[in-house]
Amino acid sequence: MKTQEKPWGGRFSEPTDRQVEAFTSSLHYDRRLYRCDIEGSIAHARMLARQGIVTKGEARAICAGLREILAEMEAGTFPFHPDDEDIHMAIENALTERIGGAGGKLHTGRSRNDQIALDIRLYLRDEIGRMLALVGSLKSAFLELAKKECGVVLSGYTHLQKAQPVLLAHYLLAFWEMFARDEARLRDCLKRMNVMPLGAAALAGTGLPLDRRYVARLLRFPAVTANSIDTVSDRDFAAEFIFAASLVMMHMSRFCEDLVLWSTDEFGYVEIADAFTTGSSIMPQKKNPDVPELIRGKTGRVYGHLVAMLTILKGLPMTYNRDLQEDKEPLFDTVDTVQACLKILAAMIGHLTFNRERMEAGAKGGFSTATDVAEYLVMKGVPFREAHGIVGRIVSFCIQQGKTLTGLTLMEFQTFYKGFDEELFQCLTVRQSIQARRVIGGTAEETVRRRIAEIEGR
Ligand code: ARG
Repeated sequence: MKTQEKPWGGRFSEPTDRQVEAFTSSLHYDRRLYRCDIEGSIAHARMLARQGIVTKGEARAICAGLREILAEMEAGTFPFHPDDEDIHMAIENALTERIGGAGGKLHTGRSRNDQIALDIRLYLRDEIGRMLALVGSLKSAFLELAKKECGVVLSGYTHLQKAQPVLLAHYLLAFWEMFARDEARLRDCLKRMNVMPLGAAALAGTGLPLDRRYVARLLRFPAVTANSIDTVSDRDFAAEFIFAASLVMMHMSRFCEDLVLWSTDEFGYVEIADAFTTGSSIMPQKKNPDVPELIRGKTGRVYGHLVAMLTILKGLPMTYNRDLQEDKEPLFDTVDTVQACLKILAAMIGHLTFNRERMEAGAKGGFSTATDVAEYLVMKGVPFREAHGIVGRIVSFCIQQGKTLTGLTLMEFQTFYKGFDEELFQCLTVRQSIQARRVIGGTAEETVRRRIAEIEGR
C-alpha cells in the first residue's frame, strides 16, 4: 500500500511510524464531517477567486472536484485511503489527485486549525436544528397526553413519600416546561456557535487578503469571530452543547425513572405496551421497562462526555493543541444518543396506559389532604404553625385508630380544635384538594386547562 504524502512532509527526513499514524488518525470518525468540510472548502475557494488569490478557472476546478468527491461520499463509493490522517487530508489529497495543481491551492490562507473549528460549527448547527425538532415533538407528545388525561388524579410525592394529590396532566406538563427550557438553551447555544472561524488560520490570522465576511455570507453565518487566537482554541460551544444535551437527557431520565417505578406491581399506575417492553430469558412472567431504563442509563454516558469535554479543555495551553481532536467522539456520541432517546421516548408516550383507579386510590392514601385541613384552619385565623401541630395530632390519632381523615366525625375533629365546623368536609377529598389549588402554576383543573390553552395559543 502506498503511503500518502504528508502535507507537512517537507521538513521531515523519515516517514511517520505506522503506529503513530494509526494512533493520531481521526479519519475513522471525523469522516462524518465530510459534508461540512466540503461546504466550507467550496466557500473558501470561491472567496479566494473573488479576491484574485486563485484564478476563476482554478476555483471552478476546485469546486467541481469537491462536488464530485461529495457525490461519491454521499453514495458511499469514495475510495477512502486509510493513510489519510483526517477527513480534511482525505478530501484535499483526493482533490489534488483528480484536478492536479489547482488542488494544492485550496488550502491557501487556511489551516486545519480554523478548518476543523468551522466543520464542527457547521455540523453542530445542523444537528441542533434536528434536536430542536425532536424536542418539539416530545413536548407535543407530553401536551397531547396531558389533554387526554386531564381529569386523572395522581399522588404527588416528595421524598418519594405520598405528599399531595395532583392532576396527572399537571405532572405531564411539568415535563413540557422542562423541554421548553431545553429548547431555549439549545437556541442560545446556537447563537454563540453560529460565528464563522475561517481566516484565523493557524492561530494568528493570515497576511493574505481574505474576505472573511464574504465566506460568512456564503455559509450563512451572521458574524465572523473576532480573535484568531480564541478562534482556534475555543470549544466552549462544544461544551455548552453537551451540557444542554445533558439536561435534555436528565429530564428524559427523570420521567423514565417514574415510569419504571409506576409500572411495578407495587405501584401499578401505568402499563407500557408490549411493543415497548421486553421479556426475561428465564422468568416467563416478566415484562421489563428496558426502554426507560436504557434512557436513564444513557444519561450517564452523556454526562461522561460532558466531563470528558471539560477535562480536555482544562489547562490546555493556548492555542490549538492536538488534544482538541478528542472533542469529536464525545460530540458525535452525544448527538446520536440524545436524538435516539428523544425519538423513542416520544414514540413510547403513545403506548402508555394509566390505571386511573390505582392512581386515584394512591392519591387518597397517606393522609394526602392533611395540608388542606391545615389551610382550612388558617382561613379560620389559626396561625399556620399551630394549625400544622393540630393536624399532626389528628393524623397521629388516625394512625393509632386505623382511621382516615374522611372517616372521622366532626366531634372527633373538635376534640383537637373547638372551631372545626361542617365546612371542613369540603376540603377532605382528593378532588376538593386539587380543586382548591387555583394559584397560578397550581394543580387545579381550571388552572391546568388555562396553561394548556396558553401553550396552544403560542
Ligand atoms: N484532526 C484535527 C482535529 O480534529 C484537525 C486539526 C489538525 N491540526 C493540526 N495542526 N494537526 O483537531
